[in-house]
Amino acid sequence: MKAIRVHAVGGPEAMRLDDVEAVTPGPVEVLVRNGAAGVNFIDLHQRTGRYPVPDIPLTLGMEGAGTIESVGDQVTNVKPGDRVSYVMGGHGAKPGTYAEYACVPADALILLPAEIDNVTAAGMTLKGLTAQYLIRGAYPVQKGQTILVHAAAGGVGLLLCQWARLIGARVIGTVGSEAKAEVALAHGCDHIIQYGREDVAARVRALTGGEGVPVVFDAVGKDTFEASLDSLMVRGTLVSFGTASGPTPPFNLFELNPRGSLYVTSAGLAWFTRSRAELLERAGELVGLIASGAIKVPVRQQWPLAEAASAHKALEARATTGMTVLTI
Ligand SMILES: NC(=O)c1ccc[n+]([C@@H]2O[C@H](COP(=O)([O-])OP(=O)(O)OC[C@H]3O[C@@H](n4cnc5c(N)ncnc54)[C@H](OP(=O)(O)O)[C@@H]3O)[C@@H](O)[C@H]2O)c1
Repeated sequence: MKAIRVHAVGGPEAMRLDDVEAVTPGPVEVLVRNGAAGVNFIDLHQRTGRYPVPDIPLTLGMEGAGTIESVGDQVTNVKPGDRVSYVMGGHGAKPGTYAEYACVPADALILLPAEIDNVTAAGMTLKGLTAQYLIRGAYPVQKGQTILVHAAAGGVGLLLCQWARLIGARVIGTVGSEAKAEVALAHGCDHIIQYGREDVAARVRALTGGEGVPVVFDAVGKDTFEASLDSLMVRGTLVSFGTASGPTPPFNLFELNPRGSLYVTSAGLAWFTRSRAELLERAGELVGLIASGAIKVPVRQQWPLAEAASAHKALEARATTGMTVLTI
């Protein structure tokens, strides 16, 4: 089968379309014929070696969708022909969705309704579960609150903004360009701040009567960390969940006190989908909202599998909005 692998960690040129041996599912796994794979920021971190990777050569990709081809002896929850999406990694699996086929633990699978095609599913599963756990679990957002979402026009960002709007919250989003501002405003953002050009915390204070926001969702990291803390109200919460601009700087815990007894958490999807039951509960809400059209999945970039490097270059260059998907 064809698969995109990295043979040595590095730039996008490290990715190669290889012919590799067919994979065979273990007793509690299924073989999925992938129709599409989601491109996520974590794939860039694994390709560059910033996040540790299990084996080299490594087939990239944490998010996939397709049709079950065959199932292991002990699998009872799904059958060949079912259409599913899944996130690798949280359930003992390695990356590997940038490929024609993947072996996936059966307890990581989400059954897809007919309303959700493979491209949509590959755009919404990892990012949508992330938006769900952030807004329902890491910090349960309430109607009437004003929240701050960084990289609001990105994949996770557009889902978070729409979801917060649905709950009845007011959303302030940060973006890197004028064109991205328009996209974020069309997907749930009420106010936009261009973080390269404006003082984020000052704008947030101005928009909240000087109070600040109860929560900041920050996956930009290095470049936004200080502004995030400065944007919080007394006893507000910084939910850090990514480092697109680089790792957050070292921080003296005591500083949270004079800044208003703030809370800070560093959150990860795997910790919010620890059991099959928890995964199904979060996925149930996500799939329901997307199948009904209440939340849209803007897949705004698509490339064929063989051109995965172009997708990585675009994501790295901040040239994408919404979701990026590889078609297989
Ligand atoms: N912890 C978790 O559970 C979890 C799960 C999924 C994703 N994440 C994180 O969530 C973030 C969003 O993921 P995504 O896949 O949806 O990506 P994305 O938001 O579509 O793309 C990343 C965005 O970050 C912004 N950015 C700011 N500084 C950047 C820089 N120096 N280089 C590149 N981008 C920069 C860019 O938007 P602007 O141009 O508007 O600034 C860029 O479009 C990532 O940090 C990812 O690692 C975390």
